[in-house]
Amino acid sequence: MILTTGGAGFIGSNFVLDWLAGSDEPVLNLDKLTYAGNLENLASLCADPRHVFVQGDIGDAAQVARLLAKHRPRAVVNFAAESHVDRSIHGPEDFIQTNIVGTYRLLESVRDYWSGLAAVEKSAFRFLHVSTDEVYGSLGRIDPPFSEANRYEPNSPYSASKAASDHLVRAWHRTYGLPALTTNCSNNYGPFHFPEKLIPLCIHNALAGKPLPIYGDGQQRRDWLYVGDHCSAIRRVLEAGQVGEVYNVGGGSEKANLEVVTTLCDMLDALNPRADGRSYREQIAFVADRPGHDRRYAIDAGKLERELGWKPVETFESGIRKTVCWYLDNQDWVRNVTSGAYRDWVGRQYGAQGGD
Ligand code: NAD
Ligand code: DAU
Repeated sequence: MILTTGGAGFIGSNFVLDWLAGSDEPVLNLDKLTYAGNLENLASLCADPRHVFVQGDIGDAAQVARLLAKHRPRAVVNFAAESHVDRSIHGPEDFIQTNIVGTYRLLESVRDYWSGLAAVEKSAFRFLHVSTDEVYGSLGRIDPPFSEANRYEPNSPYSASKAASDHLVRAWHRTYGLPALTTNCSNNYGPFHFPEKLIPLCIHNALAGKPLPIYGDGQQRRDWLYVGDHCSAIRRVLEAGQVGEVYNVGGGSEKANLEVVTTLCDMLDALNPRADGRSYREQIAFVADRPGHDRRYAIDAGKLERELGWKPVETFESGIRKTVCWYLDNQDWVRNVTSGAYRDWVGRQYGAQGGD
């Protein structure tokens, strides 16, 4: 079995669904169910014995130790984090607690468990830490994309907390020999993306007739990675990555924010035209910029391709079409998230589970 943390969030739930679609190896899924955790994402696994859900905090050393001793996973994939930059600006505390203190406690619990494994299991064990390209800071207009050798220059409380967690993972490998790997990936998008992030927020607001908020001049650039491609990269690193190494993961799709939003508008114009026949582009509204806003991220994922043969399958055009179609087909999911009704899901569907 493998243990995922944060597997009820956006990327984690896509990963769990993807994993169990391709393998019968069970997943123990530990998630605190913060506002970002949504078990409705995993509703299709409700009666599937291969998915064992436990509500809990990666920082709860006693609970994590109990789970490790009971389920004896061969690997841990750490998705659990506070992930939204704007929230980190308004309130950094949760980011420090989960992303730094929580990762530290998880590393210690896992180290203790791993130290007690028999030699063969011990050398096969893996701890995969899921991190972000934001730790590298902001690129200039003509700088080469981030490679794994770029220095860390985090600019937001979120990216600083993720940078700290990456350093802890590195140190636990170098000092204690914990077989850890780190992936630093670019902006994900796809199904189950919480509508606080640019792409799902703009799809939701467009359909609700609300403004599409563009920070500053909208010329900040991000590399966009379809979440299914991120899942395949993680699987590949878990399977064949070199212990102690770092792998950048990117979609090869660098776009300015304004271009992303106009693409969404054009797609919605074609797939779900406004009742008045006008374009969703009319809803675009320029608003105040994010403080400390990183201007440009771009990823060089060449190491992952050269060493492990991974490449993204989706282009931005194919991935964004799938994403828009998913949101159009899953308006109930969006309604439940935006109304807060998804928070009742645990009680209704997982009443008998959720404990260790
Ligand atoms: P998310 O916010 O959608 O989900 C995070 C999940 O972690 C939620 O289910 C939440 O309940 C859970 N969680 C939070 N604190 C926890 C704790 N203390 N203990 C246990 N569970 C806890 O995040 P996401 O977008 O799915 O991101 C997953 C990981 O990938 C994060 O580590 C993030 O930094 C990283 N990442 C995300 C992106 C992206 O574009 N979304 C890009 C690069 C890296
Ligand atoms: O690069 C990887 C990171 O991508 C992850 O580590 C983070 O967890 C994830 O949230 C994401 O961070 P960003 O800040 O890049 O994503 P977000 O969707 O919040 O914003 C994308 C860009 O769009 C960014 O330049 C800010 C801008 N933006 C965002 C929002 C929410 C707007 O212009 N308007 C908005 O309303």
